[in-house]
Amino acid sequence: MAWIYDSASQRVLCYDFFVSESVVFQNSIVAEGADVVAQGAKMISQCRVAVIGYGNQGRSHALNLRESGISVAVGGRSGSRALQLARDEGFAAHSSVEVVAEADLVIIALPDEVHTECCPPLLDAMKSAGVIGFLHGFSLHFGQVTVGKGRGVVLVAPKGPGTALRARFLEGMGIPCLLAVHQGGDDPIRTEGLAMGWAHGIGSARAGIIRTTFRDEAETDLFGEQAVLCGGLCELIKAAYETLVEAGYPPLLAYTECCHEVKQIADLICDRGMAGMGEAISNTARFGAEVAGERLIDGSVRARMREVLREIQDGSFAAQMIADSAKGSPRLRAARSATAAHPMEGAGREVRALLPWLK
Ligand SMILES: NC(=O)c1ccc[n+]([C@@H]2O[C@H](COP(=O)([O-])OP(=O)(O)OC[C@H]3O[C@@H](n4cnc5c(N)ncnc54)[C@H](OP(=O)(O)O)[C@@H]3O)[C@@H](O)[C@H]2O)c1
Repeated sequence: MAWIYDSASQRVLCYDFFVSESVVFQNSIVAEGADVVAQGAKMISQCRVAVIGYGNQGRSHALNLRESGISVAVGGRSGSRALQLARDEGFAAHSSVEVVAEADLVIIALPDEVHTECCPPLLDAMKSAGVIGFLHGFSLHFGQVTVGKGRGVVLVAPKGPGTALRARFLEGMGIPCLLAVHQGGDDPIRTEGLAMGWAHGIGSARAGIIRTTFRDEAETDLFGEQAVLCGGLCELIKAAYETLVEAGYPPLLAYTECCHEVKQIADLICDRGMAGMGEAISNTARFGAEVAGERLIDGSVRARMREVLREIQDGSFAAQMIADSAKGSPRLRAARSATAAHPMEGAGREVRALLPWLK
C-alpha cells in the first residue's frame, strides 16, 4: 500500500514504501490510513461483489478483484455481448437484478447516461445491507440517481482508463483512485471498509488513494476531461495539425510534431513536473514556449474555462448530456464520426504503422 491523501484535512494519512523510498511523502507515515485499508481488504475478502457492466472499466474491476481473491459475479442486460465475454472469461454472469440480490457490494460500471434507467430496479433488488458503488460521481451528484438513507453509497474512481487499471495491476502495481463515501447508511464502518477493500482489490492501494467527495470528484473529473484531457488538448492538437497542413507541410510530419510527441512531453511532465520538463527540453524549445504559450492560451481562454466550469457546477452540462442521450445521442454520435473522418486519423495510422512497438 502506498498512500492515502485526505482532501478534507489536506493531509497524507499513511504512506509506506511499496512504490519507492525516495518519493515525496517520506515523513508522513501515519498508521490510521494503513489500518483502514487492511481492515477493508479483510472485510471485502469475506463478501460478494457484483460488477454491473463489463466494458472499459467493469472488465478491469472484475478481473482485478477476482485475482485479489474476492468473490465476483458480473451482471448485464439480456443479449449483452459484454456479458458473454464475462462468461467466456470464467465469471458467473447473469441478469443484473439476479446478481445484485446476492451481493454485499454492487459496483455500477455502466455508462453514466443509463444510470437513471438502470439503477432503480437494481436498488430495489439489492439486499438491505448491500452497498452501492459508483466509478464516477456524475449520476448521484447531478440528481440522476437517488438512494435511500439506510444504504451505503461509495465511489472508487480510478484515475485512468480501464486498460491502464488492468495493465498496471498485471505489473504488480496499480493506478491511483479517488475514493468517497456519499453516505454510510446503517453501517458506516462497513461501508467505508468495503470501499477501501474495493480500492485495494483493484490495485489502487498500491499506488495511492485520494479521499474526496462525490461533488469534488464529479466536477473536477468533468472539468479536467473537458478543459484539458479530451476537449482542450485534442482541439489544440487538431488546430495545430491543420495549421501546418494548410501551410503546405506533409501530413505525416504535422502529425508527428503536433500529436505523436505529446506523449513524450506528457510523460516528462508527469515524472518531473512542468519545471522538470522545461529542463529536459532544448533552450530553443523552452524559449519558443515562452514566446508562444501565453499568447495562445491567453485571458480569453481562461475566461471560457471558467464558463465551462460554471456549466459543470450548475448542472447545465449534465442536463445537456442527459438530453442528448434521451434523443439517442445524436450529438455524441456525430462527434465520434467527425473525429474518425478527420484527415489526421489517416496520418496517425501511417505513423503508427511505422512504429510497430506502439500498442
Ligand atoms: N472509460 C473510462 O476510462 C472511465 C474512467 C473512470 C471512470 N469511468 C466511469 O465508469 C463507468 C462506466 O464507464 P465505461 O466507459 O466503463 O462504460 P462502457 O464501457 O461504455 O459500458 C459498460 C457496459 O455497460 C453495458 N451497457 C451499456 N448500455 C447499457 C444499458 N442501457 N443497459 C445495461 N447495460 C448497458 C455494456 O454492455 P452491453 O452493451 O454489451 O450490454 C458494457 O458492458 C462510468 O460511470 C464512467 O464515468 C470510466
